Amino acid sequence: MRLKRLTLTHFRNLTQADFYPGPGINLLVGENGSGKTSILEAIYLLAMVRSFRSKRLKHLIQHQQSAFTVHGRLGNEQGDDLNIAVQRRLASDEVDVRLRGERPGTLAQLTAELPLQLINSDAFRLLEGGPKERRQFLDWGGFHTNVQFIGLWQRFQRALKQRNSLLRHAKIDALQLDVWDREMAAYGSQLTQLREEYLDSLTPLFSARLQELGLSQSISLSFQRGWDRQMPLYDHLQASRDKDKEQGFTQSGPQRADLKISVEGRAALDVLSRGQQKLVVSALKLAQGELLSRQAGKKCVYLIDDLPAELDSQHRRQFCALLEKQQAQVFISSVEADALADWISENNSPAWFHVKQGQLLPLSH
Ligand SMILES: Nc1ncnc2c1ncn2[C@@H]1O[C@H](COP(=O)(O)OP(=O)(O)OP(=O)(O)O)[C@@H](O)[C@H]1O
Ligand SMILES: [Mg+2]
Repeated sequence: MRLKRLTLTHFRNLTQADFYPGPGINLLVGENGSGKTSILEAIYLLAMVRSFRSKRLKHLIQHQQSAFTVHGRLGNEQGDDLNIAVQRRLASDEVDVRLRGERPGTLAQLTAELPLQLINSDAFRLLEGGPKERRQFLDWGGFHTNVQFIGLWQRFQRALKQRNSLLRHAKIDALQLDVWDREMAAYGSQLTQLREEYLDSLTPLFSARLQELGLSQSISLSFQRGWDRQMPLYDHLQASRDKDKEQGFTQSGPQRADLKISVEGRAALDVLSRGQQKLVVSALKLAQGELLSRQAGKKCVYLIDDLPAELDSQHRRQFCALLEKQQAQVFISSVEADALADWISENNSPAWFHVKQGQLLPLSH
């Protein structure tokens, strides 16, 4: 699905905004502090029910106001429409979410409707951050391309939590521990298999995008499943019981999985320049969007905050051409219109919007 309409009330500095984005590339231009990132944040909120820059949603309520509301209308090529609304009141600790007018059973239902790719300066945590960032990257793919993924992931997490809580007890019931070892092993092995399969499908697309972005180094992606390669997960959990008891938690398993990104055997982070790292992250995100379209027939929406600051003009042009080819809906923010104008192809007729002091106005170009 793509976003057809976005309505904001008392969201950050945007008092009231009603926005009809185009189906392709949308350019949001405005001065520092005008509200560009806030608009991307509102779109992100619709799918994720969280912000990418504030831990607490109450900070998104406009100062001196008592609540914000973000309302989105999504649609697809078949003409199906779907409404999502997210409201947060100061007076309540809970966020009120509506999908087609009703409270959704799980928030994952929203996330599944609007697969998002966020590219901002934090996106580089994928390379420089810890393994958690890279597991989330892989699991984004699993979640959006395989309906079994979320159930497996939740059951695995539950088993891990139960096992860890038993390991913290002074007297450990070996039989009970065995129950959770078996659960963890069953769900963890399936989860790992899905992660491996996803990465196998992603790798050729990633390499192709990287080449198109002009990066000549050969970059390899390798999956580390989080425990000994030679051992089934159940055997491994049994073998590491004593050590786990000592530490009071499960030290290895799928919860420690990682994705190694390397250039001729060395960590990419130690070899690549900052700009090259940006290209690697861009290629990873483009590959994910393409694979989503191939495997699940869904299009993802790209939110790109301040692109000119992230890439040089030649790479920006190549990157945008690849986004256009994907026919994804894209939101790109920039402080300068000129920095965008010369490299967006007019064939795709991007929609221009001017963000000015919390107001959003379409621009004819
Ligand atoms: N809860 C809030 N209520 C009112 N205004 C807020 C709130 N939170 C942030 N702001 C203000 O909203 C404005 C818009 O911020 P935003 O980050 O969206 O701007 P931007 O256009 O992305 O700027 P930049 O180009 O510098 O990245 C800023 O002036 C910020 O101080
Ligand atoms: Mg900004």
